Amino acid sequence: MRVRRKVGILVSGRGSNLQALLDACADPAFPAEIVLVISNVAGAYALERAEKAGVATLTIPHKSYPDRAAFDAALDAALRAAAVEIVCLAGFMRLLTPEFTRAWAGRMLNIHPSLLPSFKGLHTHQRAIEAGVKLHGCTVHLVTPDLDDGPILVQKAVPVLLGDTPDTLAARVLEQEHQAYPEALRLLAEGRVTVTANRAEIA
Ligand code: GAR
Repeated sequence: MRVRRKVGILVSGRGSNLQALLDACADPAFPAEIVLVISNVAGAYALERAEKAGVATLTIPHKSYPDRAAFDAALDAALRAAAVEIVCLAGFMRLLTPEFTRAWAGRMLNIHPSLLPSFKGLHTHQRAIEAGVKLHGCTVHLVTPDLDDGPILVQKAVPVLLGDTPDTLAARVLEQEHQAYPEALRLLAEGRVTVTANRAEIA
């Protein structure tokens, strides 16, 4: 039987990307399994999704820690205690310390709702509309210490339509996020990603 890589997911909110990953991992042939979901926000809907899927959950409220380093150390300890090999950030809305990102370098993915390197940070859909771009989308990338940076594994583009609002555009992008994240996790879990000069090459 093929070994499935153990995945930990960090969330803060509704968890629709978590759901896409849970659904993908429900197939025993998928090369990864989710062993732990951690939220920094108590009561996040993502936690309910994990519980329904029978996956262990933890709430680690960032407010209970004196600084980012202490919070990240608690995340790190919980992930290691669960023997996690790959970390996925799925709507996790906290900046991570360089120490944490270095410790998980090459083994941590993030999904961002824009075609990086355009529109890093927040309010990506509104900014895309204001910029008048005709294509927008999402990116799954390996996490480096810089915000919304790092080698790109998968991108999906959608058209920006006349009359789009941030909400209508977000919904179109979100559908693609749910395709992109399982695809990227599969590539990483199958060991098909090598990084050269900040570029991911897919075997
Ligand atoms: C997603 O659109 C994700 O790309 C975005 O937050 C949303 C979370 O939704 N992430 C970021 O903006 C991180 N920079 P979800 O909780 O339903 O997956």
